[in-house]
Amino acid sequence: MEPTENQIQTGLDHRHLLGLSDYSSREISLILETARRFRDVLDRPIKRVPTLRGITVVNLFFESSTRTRISFELAEKRLSADTVNFSASGSSVSKGESLKDTAQNIEAMKIDMVVIRHQSPGAPNFLTQCVDAVVINAGDGAHEHPTQALLDMLTISDRFGKLEGLNVSIIGDILHSRVARSNIHGLLAMGANVTICGPKPLLPVHLDRMASSKGDLRITHKLNEALEGCDVAMALRIQMERQGQSLFPSIREYHDQFGIRMEHLHAHKDLIVMHPGPVNRGVELASDVVDHERALILNQVTNGVAVRMAVLYLLSGQIASE
Ligand code: CP
Repeated sequence: MEPTENQIQTGLDHRHLLGLSDYSSREISLILETARRFRDVLDRPIKRVPTLRGITVVNLFFESSTRTRISFELAEKRLSADTVNFSASGSSVSKGESLKDTAQNIEAMKIDMVVIRHQSPGAPNFLTQCVDAVVINAGDGAHEHPTQALLDMLTISDRFGKLEGLNVSIIGDILHSRVARSNIHGLLAMGANVTICGPKPLLPVHLDRMASSKGDLRITHKLNEALEGCDVAMALRIQMERQGQSLFPSIREYHDQFGIRMEHLHAHKDLIVMHPGPVNRGVELASDVVDHERALILNQVTNGVAVRMAVLYLLSGQIASE
């Protein structure tokens, strides 16, 4: 795909995608618009364009993933990039090699872009200081997961034709959620109204600081308050693996208080439900809600490929301009 005149003149202001906290509404809009154009490519019989021919991308995954990993790989292949996949297990990381040494050794093999998922917040940022390659954060600890939030925003704006003025409630384990952080930054930048809902132990202490100058967050500990007047309910996975201790009495009690069930869809006729996956059926969402036509979970996954194509394409401009 050739860039439009507008994209040549007004590309991204950033060299990397580490998070959405400092991405402007212009940059987010550009990524979403570019993703829509790539989605047209994905609907064609031959779903491949030569856009990134000659560019080599390594996918460094230090943490498990299904959706993000597969969709980055697909996005790279659809753009005709050369790709290399790395998993921490089975690599020299298991022999004690550091992130810096791992990355520098891989870059010595002439890598242009690195997609990294890591359990430590800040690992992608650290990587930018070790290598010259363009770095894309595919999820770092509980910090950010920017491409997830971008595909979420694409899914929402497809449905409603806009993001500005929409009421989006993010419900569940906010404390451990990089998806929540990236969505808060992105949605506020785009003018949406964001409500955070969950049990007190699962909400960060300084939520107000996350809102920064972009807008205000509404905070509630009652699901009914979060769903009142809500356009989109974004349920988050309870991240048992990141909890050192149990932060709520039981899964059943959590579902009773914060799980979205059919009764909520019946009470809120226009409510759309989203979830980044993987879903704990019967915990964040009742199983019949997961499969309901107003749950956009698989639309989110489909949009993930187009959004990642857009991010790779727009950031590849940084390589060309060196
Ligand atoms: N939403 C998401 O990041 O899913 P994976 O962990 O499967 O990549």
